[in-house]
Amino acid sequence: MPEYSFSPTGAKFKLPEPDDYPKEFDRLKEVVSKQKALGREIVVVMGLGFVGAVMAAVVADAQDEKGNPTKFVIGMQRPSTRSFWKTPLLNLGIPPVSSEDPEVSLIIRRCVNEKKTLTATYTYDALKLADVVVVDVQCDYLKESLGNVRQGQADMKALEESLEIIGQNISPEALVLIETTVAPGTTEQVAYPIIKKMFRKRGVESDPQLAHSFERVMPGKNYVASIRDFWRVCSGMNEEATRRVVKFLKEVINTDKYPLTVLDRPIESETAKIVENSFRATILAFLDEWSLFAERNGVDLIKVINAIKVRPTHNNMIFPGPGIGGYCLPKDGGLGLWAYRHIHGFEDEIFKITPMAIDINDTRSLHVAHLTRDALRNMGRPIASAEVLVLGASYREDVGDTRYSGSELIVRRLTEMGAELRVHDPYVPHWWEFEKQDEYPASSQSLKRFFRGQEKLKDLRMEQDLAKALKGTDAVIFAVRHKHYLNLDPDEVVKMAGGPIAIVDCFGLLDDNKIKRYFELGCEVKGLGRGHVKRIKDQVRGKLLEV
Ligand SMILES: NC(=O)c1ccc[n+]([C@@H]2O[C@H](COP(=O)([O-])OP(=O)(O)OC[C@H]3O[C@@H](n4cnc5c(N)ncnc54)[C@H](O)[C@@H]3O)[C@@H](O)[C@H]2O)c1
Repeated sequence: MPEYSFSPTGAKFKLPEPDDYPKEFDRLKEVVSKQKALGREIVVVMGLGFVGAVMAAVVADAQDEKGNPTKFVIGMQRPSTRSFWKTPLLNLGIPPVSSEDPEVSLIIRRCVNEKKTLTATYTYDALKLADVVVVDVQCDYLKESLGNVRQGQADMKALEESLEIIGQNISPEALVLIETTVAPGTTEQVAYPIIKKMFRKRGVESDPQLAHSFERVMPGKNYVASIRDFWRVCSGMNEEATRRVVKFLKEVINTDKYPLTVLDRPIESETAKIVENSFRATILAFLDEWSLFAERNGVDLIKVINAIKVRPTHNNMIFPGPGIGGYCLPKDGGLGLWAYRHIHGFEDEIFKITPMAIDINDTRSLHVAHLTRDALRNMGRPIASAEVLVLGASYREDVGDTRYSGSELIVRRLTEMGAELRVHDPYVPHWWEFEKQDEYPASSQSLKRFFRGQEKLKDLRMEQDLAKALKGTDAVIFAVRHKHYLNLDPDEVVKMAGGPIAIVDCFGLLDDNKIKRYFELGCEVKGLGRGHVKRIKDQVRGKLLEV
């Protein structure tokens, strides 16, 4: 029976069968020989996910001073039922990732259909043709409990498998550039031995050429620029690998404007990525306790932060919103902790701040459920069976990326408490973390495992129409600062809802006039870090009593 892979929009693609592989390799050999004759370097990008798909296009778009393409890129995606669809889609010139950056579609279409410097494949044989292999497969960190990153482990399976396949196939001279965010030490202590072992099995005497350079891509409005026009850090395992990785990155990335930092060893490049993201996770987590302090003592943390940010030394202070999501910040510190013990063999606990920050960030959004429950209780409505609308499913404003978003935990916790959830997000047509919660992000990895009563959430469908979503709701949670929600008028919201409702502001979306108006309309308002709402409520209720 043939197997099929479905794209998120429902397009159906038949998985390749054994007979297809030799034909596909012949196709690649033919195109590569033509591209080589044009003097182009052959680059295989392994893993066409959020990073690899766009990195492949950036490399394929590289050109010399005369405007001639310098690279031919083969995007290599394993043909699993979950991901195979990315290959045929890319070959049509359609991005396999959704994005708010119009340049993603343009650059992929240009490279596939016009310049013809980019193709995608499912066969590992492509690796045999590569001068450079760029590794963009995932390396996850699996947590065994909610809010305790120490109880977890790096999931290196996909990466280790990829490295083995690379070692079995590449030419001994090929440069392998690992871009995956890895546990520090991986390039030298995991990748190098795996590939070297495969070389020796093949009778190859030379050592593999390995380098690391992490991605700082932000899949949002500046997706392409965040790969091409951004600062990079890199390091090779030896002088030759360093020379080659520097040359490669200079040819594909705008290093004139965004200079490259070359570090001595791959472990330093790998550590740079982990420290960079642990730092950001920490400055976000740090405000969680002050957010609670503010709520309990009549302080508006939003105004406090704005007052502090006036000082140039403190201008990177960020209000944390309902939890810290995205693919990277929740996991990267965990990879560091894990490496210290399992790659480098230390047993003591030197890490205090990084795990604490991740644990705080991972559970911050649960407090939104408390606020919703309390706001409804103040209106005499129990949370059980209340209709609750969450505005925003993604992990940050104006993007459609829902990975580990705070909103997911809000929905899960409130469902556990008996509420009926609806969700609206203009950037998210399907919320796979719910619709496919038994297999996405992978079987047994869904956050549903930390909550009870989650089965019905696989039927959760995104509301497309805000007015319809609001109709008859008991509570609205402003979870993400999407531009669509910033100017919503309280009178309109209450009218669409059909009467006074509970309002929960997770991200400082509401100014004091709006908060006041919601109270005047008979609503109850609460917000993360927004202790001053009680003062506004007292003023409004006092005034109403006087009338
Ligand atoms: N997404 C981001 O915003 C971001 C930002 C910076 C860094 N990173 C890092 O980049 C790396 C990749 O992240 P991503 O978001 O692209 O992940 P992803 O899960 O979207 O993509 C990984 C892809 O690799 C494929 N793959 C796995 N094994 C393979 C194999 N053997 N052969 C071919 N393909 C294979 C998967 O099927 C998938 O399509 C991670 O280490 C991540 O931490 C991601």
